[in-house]
Amino acid sequence: MNNQKNIVITGATDGIGLAAAVSIARKGYRIGLVGRNPQKGAIAREKIISLTGNDQLDFFEADLSSIKNVKSLAEQIKTKYSSLDVLLNNAGGANRYKIITEEGLEKTFATNQMNYFVLTTELLGLLSETSGSRIVNVASNAHIGSTIDYSNINAEKEYSFWKAYCVSKLMNLMFTYRLASIQDKVSVNALHPGFVDTNIAGNEGNFIKKIVKFGSKIFARSVEDGADSSIYLSTSDEVEGVSGQYYFKCKPIKSSKISYDQNQWDQIWSICEDFKQKILNEK
Ligand SMILES: NC(=O)c1ccc[n+]([C@@H]2O[C@H](COP(=O)([O-])OP(=O)(O)OC[C@H]3O[C@@H](n4cnc5c(N)ncnc54)[C@H](OP(=O)(O)O)[C@@H]3O)[C@@H](O)[C@H]2O)c1
Repeated sequence: MNNQKNIVITGATDGIGLAAAVSIARKGYRIGLVGRNPQKGAIAREKIISLTGNDQLDFFEADLSSIKNVKSLAEQIKTKYSSLDVLLNNAGGANRYKIITEEGLEKTFATNQMNYFVLTTELLGLLSETSGSRIVNVASNAHIGSTIDYSNINAEKEYSFWKAYCVSKLMNLMFTYRLASIQDKVSVNALHPGFVDTNIAGNEGNFIKKIVKFGSKIFARSVEDGADSSIYLSTSDEVEGVSGQYYFKCKPIKSSKISYDQNQWDQIWSICEDFKQKILNEK
């Protein structure tokens, strides 16, 4: 009998996702590495093999800011894997300027929240058929202090790159808590990686990038440390069956008061579901 476990990690070509992939490869998992850049995918693959000796790695190319691409990615994953033990939703970023995707979504919302929602809901069937399966969503304490302006989901009124990022991370938590509350076959948890020295500010223009890089050198955690809760929630026996929680440094923590507002969980869910249906039904 093949006991090898399968995990899909989005944003596995860099930063926290790549560090998590290295560590999880050491544990013998077969890994679906999701990225938008095949060259970076090939480099990540080689790095993981050279550091761990595990070559059970499949690269899936997808721009996760496109809902149609996310749907097609889910189809490819379902074709490739007959079981799925873990989905680690990690890919994310911030965009200095307002960008509306070809599908009509503000890009931060599309990449950071719609991507998590669509990939998860499309893979839920496969995950539910796999005993003890897990969904792990990388969120952030940047959500603290944020509220959702429902008339500005796609930056209809205004755009601030930091606000858009923080709101998307609040949505990640609401999505996690609602999903955990409505099904019991798959455990669903979220985490804050801390302030981690990565390329996350890479698209933010020179000034902001320089400030973040300067701060990173002084205060930030390494990518290996920043990946600790991603690895723990994805693989540890200690969290078997734990669901609907938010973690930092491998310990449960509280998120903001508003993130526990169940009416807003429902509201965010139905907004995401409506956009998903609308975009996927477009010719
Ligand atoms: N760094 C921090 O201090 C921090 C703090 C709190 C939360 N987080 C969260 O941690 C997660 C990982 O971020 P990171 O800091 O590791 O950043 P990162 O180094 O920039 O890595 C982000 C990963 O996501 C991928 N990605 C971004 N947009 C994508 C798209 N449209 N399609 C496909 N892949 C895409 C990137 O691909 P490319 O390699 O092609 O760029 C990269 O592999 C994010 O969810 C972020 O919000 C980070």
